[in-house]
Amino acid sequence: MTEDTISILARSLNTAVVFVLAVGLFLRYRPKIHMPLMLTAFVVDLTNLLIIELGSGAVEQAVDAFAEGTYFVPFHVSVSALALAGYVVAVISGTKLYRASGLVLRLPVADPERVRALRKVHKVNAAIFIVMRLVSFVTSFWM
Ligand code: HEM
Repeated sequence: MTEDTISILARSLNTAVVFVLAVGLFLRYRPKIHMPLMLTAFVVDLTNLLIIELGSGAVEQAVDAFAEGTYFVPFHVSVSALALAGYVVAVISGTKLYRASGLVLRLPVADPERVRALRKVHKVNAAIFIVMRLVSFVTSFWM
């Protein structure tokens, strides 16, 4: 694959993920749909990172850019890394929320205080994640 083909593929996948995330967010109170959509977005984002890395040695380029003192690439890399960390927090807090809220076996909520706390963590993380993921998307077109 040429670098142009990889770039088009990476941008298409990136755009598709933003759409999947938007739909997943819209359906945030329907966990049976919300969870698989968000997990799909995470897996596609990781796959895309692998494609970009294998295609153009992105990690090495990013390390060089940090060393050279230019700001565009390090900024994009930093917000993208924060978005990836946001996925991890979302998976952990979302899974705990799903279990604690009794949605797994349709049980009554055993500990409403815990559910409230987990929902807060999930929601605050979601707000930060959305900003990071959108900034990562926009700045990816600078590359
Ligand atoms: C980065 C990806 C994700 C974002 C941005 C996100 C965002 C949200 C938001 C904003 C809510 C509504 C919270 C509220 O207002 O109370 C929500 C609910 C929820 N999310 Fe996520 N989420 C993500 C990933 C996940 C994942 C991976 C899981 C599970 C594996 C998950 C499980 C849940 C559950 C169980 C609820 C509660 C649904 C309900 O109350 O009916 N989320 N999510």
